[in-house]
Amino acid sequence: MTTHDPATEAARRRTFAIISHPDAGKTTLTETLLLAGGAIRMAGAVRARGEQRRTRSDWMKIERERGISVSASVMTFERDEVVFNLLDTPGHEDFSEDTYRTLTAADSAVMVLDAAKGIEPQTLKLFEVCRLRDIPIITFINKMDREAQDPFALLDEVQQRLALDAAPLYWPAGSGQRFKGMLDLTRDEFLVFKRPEAGDPDFAAAERIAMAGNSVAAILAPDELAELRDTSELAREGLPAFDLEAFRGGSMTPVLFGSALRRFGVSELLDVLAGFAPAPRTQAATARGVEATIAPDTDEVTGFVFKIQANMDPKHRDRVAFFRVCSGRFRRGMTLKSSVGRAMNVHNPMMFMAQDREIADEAFPGDVIGIPNHGVLRVGDSLSETGQISFRGIPNFAPEILKRCRVADPLKQKHLRKALESLAEEGVTQLFKPVVGADLVVGAVGALQFDVLEERMRAEYGLEVMFEVSPFQAARWVSAAERSDLETFLERNKMQMAEDLDGAPVYLGKSAWEIGYVQDKNPAIRFASTKERLA
Ligand code: G4P
Repeated sequence: MTTHDPATEAARRRTFAIISHPDAGKTTLTETLLLAGGAIRMAGAVRARGEQRRTRSDWMKIERERGISVSASVMTFERDEVVFNLLDTPGHEDFSEDTYRTLTAADSAVMVLDAAKGIEPQTLKLFEVCRLRDIPIITFINKMDREAQDPFALLDEVQQRLALDAAPLYWPAGSGQRFKGMLDLTRDEFLVFKRPEAGDPDFAAAERIAMAGNSVAAILAPDELAELRDTSELAREGLPAFDLEAFRGGSMTPVLFGSALRRFGVSELLDVLAGFAPAPRTQAATARGVEATIAPDTDEVTGFVFKIQANMDPKHRDRVAFFRVCSGRFRRGMTLKSSVGRAMNVHNPMMFMAQDREIADEAFPGDVIGIPNHGVLRVGDSLSETGQISFRGIPNFAPEILKRCRVADPLKQKHLRKALESLAEEGVTQLFKPVVGADLVVGAVGALQFDVLEERMRAEYGLEVMFEVSPFQAARWVSAAERSDLETFLERNKMQMAEDLDGAPVYLGKSAWEIGYVQDKNPAIRFASTKERLA
């Protein structure tokens, strides 16, 4: 039941994202979470929805050709009075800045590990972004119904490689064919694993049996029971106990085991999210030019745009800005102002339910609404009723790939620049204009962003673009405490200087090594690999 009170509504919201390496089971877990949360009845809906979306947005051919969902979205569902906003990050090996940006809108994250593989390269990368933003992480060790690594080894890996205290809340009994379930370490109850019937449309929570009685003996063979008692005792004694403060502070991760495919451990994951994951938090901002914090129960509606998606509806050229509400009670039809003074009446905000989108009449801190607009809004824009609030923290990330972008027809050079600027405003790729020369340099965090750019240049701007190898391989935003130091540096390094979309100076390096070298030689200059735009 909605109370319309921002503080009460914020307190019952959990806005989270799932981070994982491809194939660890993010899609399956999303589906099972929606099923467990009662948002969908039949498994398969996430994929089916994907199919539907693909036909709807057939402007994006690569989405179909590659069979991947390039764009992230959000799914909202409610269970036991808790509203969950699951932010979907693109689940492809070749991730993009959208993935990073989506994490800036999340209050917590679920890290999915494949029980046989442990931490994989992309898990690590995404984890680093979470750490940068102090996002608390819950670990879900998936695929326990297959042969898994030893749980102690898995937890040790989390501890060693992520420098996170791993506190198991449950302890598994076996894995693969011998997987029998898990012990709730807090309540000393055994959760019985049962493979669901294929195609069962309903979700059933696992049966719980008290360890104290004799009933577990009916489920576990004597040697299995003895092993569970031994290993769980070792875990209790030797591994850190869960501490809410440490988890919220980002130094500890609670660990659950389960099987997304077999729908096991997922209801428990929702319990952990509801019970321990933080509600929308107070955010750092600038109010009327002064450092400030905006608490969710602040009356004024505030928030920021973390993602722009174009052409969700191919009939219109609208863009949809994904706006994360940070405070107040948003109502449909409100006028919100950006901190650069643009006002807009939000008369048709979209809310994203599990299977559909609908018009949102109101939204609260932690919620994400889609604001259709004609390109007025940019990634990183802060919106508020007064237009005086700027949030920090939607960064641009230093691109890992830089390419020169050209068009075959020289008469279209100006057109090219305009198109690249427009797509950079949307956050598709970044654009750097070298101080010397006419070539435009396009930068991205993932190679897929170039495919998206190429496709959209063709489809929306009628431009056939070519990407060429750039002499540059890395970019850093430069700044200095003394203006004169910066000016001297810019003058001396003119051949390698460029401006980004906002006109900020960027040093383009021929290699990471060169950047390190130039950095050492110029101690007065700060080289940043992220840029936070204050909008
Ligand atoms: P992703 O989004 O992280 O890339 O992973 P996704 O959910 O697509 O899962 C990757 C594969 O792992 C899928 O198999 C999926 O069925 C399987 N999987 C996910 N969770 C579990 C689990 O708990 N147990 C087991 N045994 N398998 C799991 P696939 O064969 O690649 O695809 P599909 O044909 O099943 O769709």
